[in-house]
Amino acid sequence: GLPERVTIWEVGARDGLQNESAVVPVEVKLEFLDRLADAGLTTLEATSFVHPKWVPQLADAEALLAGLDRRAGVRYPVLVPNDKGLTRALDAGVEHIAIFASATETFAKRNLNSSVEEQFAMFEPVVSRAREAGLEVRGYLSMCFGDPWEGAVDPATVAAVGNRLLGLGCSQLSLGDTIGVATPGHVERVLAAFGEAGTAVDSLAVHFHDTYGQALSNTLAALRLGVSTVDSSAGGLGGCPYAESATGNLATEDLVWMLDGLGVEHGVDLDALVATSAWMAGRLGRPSPSRVVNAIAG
Ligand code: HMG
Ligand code: MG
Repeated sequence: GLPERVTIWEVGARDGLQNESAVVPVEVKLEFLDRLADAGLTTLEATSFVHPKWVPQLADAEALLAGLDRRAGVRYPVLVPNDKGLTRALDAGVEHIAIFASATETFAKRNLNSSVEEQFAMFEPVVSRAREAGLEVRGYLSMCFGDPWEGAVDPATVAAVGNRLLGLGCSQLSLGDTIGVATPGHVERVLAAFGEAGTAVDSLAVHFHDTYGQALSNTLAALRLGVSTVDSSAGGLGGCPYAESATGNLATEDLVWMLDGLGVEHGVDLDALVATSAWMAGRLGRPSPSRVVNAIAG
């Protein structure tokens, strides 16, 4: 079966923009977030409190939070890697954070300057302090379906590392296909590994990048297995600066089109969303890679 309703976790302002080389003015980011809220999205990942030299595009995190028109019923999670990031996020008044781990050693080193083991030492105090402060914490796990340096990643390892993140106190774990290599059968195998490890499927979300054009098929495979939170980015923006082969996320418009066809509720006004992505494409000077955006706004 399929879930009755899907929660769309919109990552356009964070994952979507973090890899843009030309700095997007904070006013444009704020208008983007406003328009996404107007279009009915209720989870808007807003930015990251990471080292500004590591991700220069998101160096304006404080200014962004200060200028944000926080809507009732909309949550604005932010990425936080470490204690320093959490202090910054708390000072900015955030209510929801996400830590982000790697299933593989090479990406842990490249993305977090740590080993798989060291990343837990970094996250553990972050999650406990965040929870004491009343924040909700999501966990991301990258390279769940393959790593550009290490190749195949064992699903049992993914489940083990992912469950350690949940065990720290994360309310949800998002399974990242950072470089977009997964296919639906692979999604089934990874979710089966979590099932064998005893993980409740309603604590899992999926995060597909669309490098090989499989993101939508992978999403459908996950929905059929009971996942009901799906990460996507408006217009299909995105990529990870520390994983060169990564392209944009699953486009939110492509997801919404599929959910409409399946009769699954999502709460998003597709025309308003397409108009937002077309506007953003104009700001970035590049057409959206989303098939649905081009079909509707084309
Ligand atoms: P490091 O260089 O090892 O940091 O980086 P450090 O702890 O050694 O500290 C060095 C200096 O950085 C110190 O300053 C710290 O204060 C400062 P100094 O004493 O030298 O003046 N510093 C900070 N400043 C501001 N904010 C901070 C912060 N932390 C330390 N938070 C670090 C380690 C984790 C900081 C670095 O590796 C980093 O920022 N990484 C972030 C990389 C990133 O954002 N990647 C993209 C997001 S992940 C992703 O896209 C995947 C995902 O979408 C899922 C998927 O697709 O799979 C989520
Ligand atoms: Mg990502």
